[in-house]
Amino acid sequence: MKIGFFDSGLGGLTVFNKVIKEISAEYFYLADNKNAPYGIKEKKQVLEYIDKCIKKLVEIRCDIIVIACNSATSIAINELRDKYKDVCIIGTEPALKVAVDEHYLTKKIFVSATTMTINQEKLNNLIKDLEVEDIVEKIALDKLVEFAEQGIFNGKEVEEYINTKFGCYNLNEFSHLVLGCTHFPLFTDTFRKILPSHIHLVDGSNGILKNINKKVNEKNLKESDFSCKLIMTKPSDVFRSNFRNISKISDFEVEIM
Ligand code: DGL
Repeated sequence: MKIGFFDSGLGGLTVFNKVIKEISAEYFYLADNKNAPYGIKEKKQVLEYIDKCIKKLVEIRCDIIVIACNSATSIAINELRDKYKDVCIIGTEPALKVAVDEHYLTKKIFVSATTMTINQEKLNNLIKDLEVEDIVEKIALDKLVEFAEQGIFNGKEVEEYINTKFGCYNLNEFSHLVLGCTHFPLFTDTFRKILPSHIHLVDGSNGILKNINKKVNEKNLKESDFSCKLIMTKPSDVFRSNFRNISKISDFEVEIM
């Protein structure tokens, strides 16, 4: 079976890493590194980028395509499912439900994401459906995507940025931080260093793994020998080496799209 992953850059690896441990398949990881970050760009422009990338994964004949990007999911998932009716497309959305199910009634929940995800109806509908408008605080952390794509995952700059973003809140009022961008779990160590230990971090990777397993069973897909191809939209040795370090895969093919 072929499973394709798509993200603007390295963020999708936080989902990919979990999935490859559980399911043996031919994997394709498509990173639109030429156009990352998406979260601060115009929706119309980003839709064009996404369309090209998904077309590529469809042409490869992936059995399952994982949009391992909250921003892309928030603007494009419905259109993509309409356009590619025969392809199984799994999206990513902030794991707010996980936090709500666990949450200690008197406390609030931070939902962090890119500006794009925060401004889309999809997230706001989710908040309404879960009836948590009063306890959710949305927080845009776009710069973390830029740091990650530069290969910066910790250190003074990252700490200062996170400190500034959370500095105006009384953290005792909060029980959870939802990491609603797949890049953000790459900064778990820094979040843990800065935020008090009573704030739980949650991300959507377990939910996606569950969805993939469900689809594998429904479609009766058979596991195949593990292989991995990294597809980039721009040649980059830095990206390739960050991909290797984060995925811990030493042997993978590379294609430039
Ligand atoms: N990893 C992405 C997300 O989950 C994309 C971030 C970006 O390109 O701005 O939203």
